[in-house]
Amino acid sequence: MKIRKLDKMESPPKELLLLADPSIEMIEDYLNRGETYICEENGQVVAVFVMLATRPGACEIVNIAVRESRQGMGIGRKLIEYSIYTARLKGVKTLEIGTGNSSIGQLALYQKCGFRITGVDRDYFLRHYKEDIFESGIQCKDMIRLSMAL
Ligand SMILES: CC(C)(COP(=O)(O)OP(=O)(O)OC[C@H]1O[C@@H](n2cnc3c(N)ncnc32)[C@H](O)[C@@H]1OP(=O)(O)O)[C@@H](O)C(=O)NCCC(=O)NCCS
Repeated sequence: MKIRKLDKMESPPKELLLLADPSIEMIEDYLNRGETYICEENGQVVAVFVMLATRPGACEIVNIAVRESRQGMGIGRKLIEYSIYTARLKGVKTLEIGTGNSSIGQLALYQKCGFRITGVDRDYFLRHYKEDIFESGIQCKDMIRLSMAL
């Protein structure tokens, strides 16, 4: 397994990015502004994350996704550990991530990796997404924001 930064000339794995974010418009926007990292196994892309500089000293993981057949095997945790390592090397002081109120597994993962909840952006998903999103029988309405001091 190898994690590396995607070159601007290479095409990002949009089918994976769409697992984490149903809005292709939002994906294209942050792909242009951020840095994309991929995880490869035997030459195949199995996971991706995108980091965006949001303000001086702060970065946000705006998308993270693991191929469905490879989920639950520790790859997501490795990607987050790698993003922390990369952010520290860049001198970033605060690393942020956000997820929906209905993303129970993601909330567990991020807190296990050391992120703390800093706020709730109420109705974020109702304002920014045209279609209703449901997970685990819960409507995704609010953005839970988490951060980590590096
Ligand atoms: C979220 C995602 C990136 C996690 O990657 P992954 O490789 O499946 O996760 P891991 O196998 O590394 O799991 C990491 C930890 O989270 C925990 N976890 C995952 N789902 C959980 C759940 N529903 N409840 C409790 N813990 C959970 C695992 O137990 C594991 O903990 P451990 O290391 O102590 O055993 C991946 O499942 C994915 O791509 N999902 C679809 C896209 C998505 O939702 N992206 C995030 C948008 S905010």
